[in-house]
Amino acid sequence: MRTIGQANVAIDEAAGIFRVSRNAFVSDQVFEQEQSRIFARCWLYLGHEAELPEAGSFRTRRVAGREIIFNRDMSGKVNAFFDSCPHRGAKVCMEKSGTARQFHCIYHGWNFEADGTLKRQPHHSGYSETFNADGALNLMRLPRLESYRGLWFVNFDKNAISLEDYLGNAREYIDCFVDQNEQVEIIAGAQEYGIAANWKLLCENSVDGYHANNLHATYFDYARNIAPKLPDGPAPARGGLYGVARALDNGHMVGEFSGPWGRPAGKWFPSWGEAAKPEIAARRADLVARVGEEKADRIANLNRNLVIFPNLVLIDGTGMVIRVVQPSAPGFMEVCTWAVADARDSDWLRDIRMQNFLSFLGPGGLATPDDVEALERCQQGYSNRREAGWNDISRGNMEDNDQPLDHEFHIRAYWKHWAECLDRTDMVAEAADKAAA
Ligand code: FES
Ligand SMILES: [Fe+2]
Repeated sequence: MRTIGQANVAIDEAAGIFRVSRNAFVSDQVFEQEQSRIFARCWLYLGHEAELPEAGSFRTRRVAGREIIFNRDMSGKVNAFFDSCPHRGAKVCMEKSGTARQFHCIYHGWNFEADGTLKRQPHHSGYSETFNADGALNLMRLPRLESYRGLWFVNFDKNAISLEDYLGNAREYIDCFVDQNEQVEIIAGAQEYGIAANWKLLCENSVDGYHANNLHATYFDYARNIAPKLPDGPAPARGGLYGVARALDNGHMVGEFSGPWGRPAGKWFPSWGEAAKPEIAARRADLVARVGEEKADRIANLNRNLVIFPNLVLIDGTGMVIRVVQPSAPGFMEVCTWAVADARDSDWLRDIRMQNFLSFLGPGGLATPDDVEALERCQQGYSNRREAGWNDISRGNMEDNDQPLDHEFHIRAYWKHWAECLDRTDMVAEAADKAAA
């Protein structure tokens, strides 16, 4: 019998055919397998160090359905705890962010230090001498917490490979994202919205260079009309994304491309006006000084959409964002997007980024609503899955990586990795789930 991953991906490379089952987007069984074999095993984004500026800073997050406290304790160390009192399980932090020296459980009154240590119980009598000698009644730490270039990730599998190994050659693109800033700032607030579609549809969409000119024609018309003369040459006749799509290690994927817009990292744009030139030129000069001419050209001129398997998206365009896609049911995802900036931005440049965050990337902008509509239509279309059970992802060469942006090799690699994960046999987390059931 075929395993669940194999059953949902049909590959005939000789015939140039790659298909993914529509069942993969609607099945409860697939959803459950994803929870135990992907979300309980892979490195998942938690937050950025800039969100914890001082001792005691905390953020609460829901990652793969688990309530988590992400904080900096009084010694300055970054931690991730399950937000659940070890006594009877109540959440101990109800705010999304703030500063706290201690966390307090309202139920029986236990108090925990910012480093998770159980500090005080109002009714201390009746416990044995060795109570909590092993620390089991401190706030429980997540099994793994590691960071790369200021981005913190968690893993629920204590035996997982290191974060650096997991990110593999995707680190080069994270470096480009980070290196263009003197100091990364996560702008306060976030765009949070739901999409009535399967989570994998948005991961595909985030690096799908095939859809942009068609689905986002309105945006490209707008970009062309406000800036008829591009700094890099004549405006493309239609659309205007040129670049490379690439499959990376461990199911990660990226598109790197030029677009008809400016980049705060060092690509001035006519609609920004002459007055903007000195600041953008200074950015570029600083970038050259820090990373050299060649890399500075790449960082300044090219945009990157990077997906870190399974559900983190870094968009590096006029605006920079960190987007996390959380599955909540087979046919529903929750999206959270933070705008990223450089702490040294002038007011004018910050405004450009925020305009882009709202008008292009946001759920009320000129592009994301198109994507949301398309993904929800896909999900609705899967009502025919018993009669027409497959999506086609066959475009482009089956063997060679580094293809045009609108080919689909990188998306096939994502799906192959997804299927391999579902078919894993070394299921530590799954065995633990079964033991607990
Ligand atoms: S559940 Fe927290 S103190 Fe009892
Ligand atoms: Fe799109």
